[in-house]
Amino acid sequence: MEVVQVLHMNKGEGETSYAKNSVVQKKIISVATSIIKEEVQKCLEKNYPDSMGIADLGCSSGPNSLMVISDLIDTIYATSNQKEIPLPELRVSLNDLPGNDFNNIFISLPEFYNQLKMEKNIGPEGCFISGVPGSFYGRLFPKKSLHFVHSSSSLHWLSQVPRVLYANILKPLNKGKIYISNSSPRSVLDAYLSQFKRDFSLFMKSRSEEMVVDGHMVLSFMGRLSSDPSSEESCMQWELLAQALMSMALEGLIEEEKIDSFNAPYYAPSIQEVRSVVEEEGSFTINCLEAFEIEWDGDAPSNNNFQKYTDKIGKNNFSRGLQVAKTIRAVVESMLEVHFGREIMDELFKRYAELVGDYFSRTRAKYIDLVISLTKKG
Ligand SMILES: C[S@@+](CC[C@H](N)C(=O)[O-])C[C@H]1O[C@@H](n2cnc3c(N)ncnc32)[C@H](O)[C@@H]1O
Repeated sequence: MEVVQVLHMNKGEGETSYAKNSVVQKKIISVATSIIKEEVQKCLEKNYPDSMGIADLGCSSGPNSLMVISDLIDTIYATSNQKEIPLPELRVSLNDLPGNDFNNIFISLPEFYNQLKMEKNIGPEGCFISGVPGSFYGRLFPKKSLHFVHSSSSLHWLSQVPRVLYANILKPLNKGKIYISNSSPRSVLDAYLSQFKRDFSLFMKSRSEEMVVDGHMVLSFMGRLSSDPSSEESCMQWELLAQALMSMALEGLIEEEKIDSFNAPYYAPSIQEVRSVVEEEGSFTINCLEAFEIEWDGDAPSNNNFQKYTDKIGKNNFSRGLQVAKTIRAVVESMLEVHFGREIMDELFKRYAELVGDYFSRTRAKYIDLVISLTKKG
């Protein structure tokens, strides 16, 4: 399975689209907003350019894509007003893999430009937005052309499934599982970690060539607090998906071998793993590296009033399970469809919703979102 070819969020604006089911990622963006604003301000203090290169990596489609850009422009606009100097010309690049629904973003651009004109008097000569298809695990932009880089909910996707997982088709290493699980052998855990280190290091190196000295970067992605890569906080969404698939295999609806030969190109690193790749690669200084809890259904509060919240909105565990299944489906369906076939998707996500609902009745399900801000060294 070539990730570059098969990974894309569900396209369009329909019921199962990413545009309609990206509330968790929206929450993740909002959690990092104050860090993003602070980093843009610091970036402009050190280096106020005439023309500012900005990139959002893994932009996908739907309302989130332009939400970050809008926040960035607000901050740059406020800074230029405060300093009483002209706004830099803004070169905004939206990057994702070639299969991304870029058209969905492009269609919303005229309205976005109109709003810029009305609210900030920024005309077409002040802000140039373009799409850049390609993998962020490699060069995407000219040397020293970027001042600010952002990426949200994307860097937990690896460039490929670790090759060793396919080495022996007759003896699958990760039997009955589709990601790291507490039954996975050590070799699976090690293979995922080395793939993450290779990919993340290449990401850092590529950005270091594209960014100016003192340029800033804010990245947020799924991670974990535990040092154990098979901890629930980083694996449970995949564990339940594997259970849903296995229940279908037991009824003969899919072949078990198909499950054994599928592994997610995903890794949720620990804070320490992230820190050590950045330090070893050496091109960036870490300004902050923080972890946030995000509820699986995204819109819930992250305080302790959880029971009050579920009572208030009258959501039962099953409807929350359905909502989570929709958010996960919008993200992983493209990959699963290629491997297992389109015809099983409705049944698979129905079973998944039930398993998630049941999990909610036992625990407060949460992801760990890591946010790291960095400055390009001189
Ligand atoms: C869950 S979406 C996040 C989208 C958006 N940033 C948001 O916060 O809503 C993850 C995006 O990362 C993209 N992605 C994954 N691997 C990538 C890569 N190597 N290069 C560029 N984009 C990638 C996916 O195609 C997908 O659109």
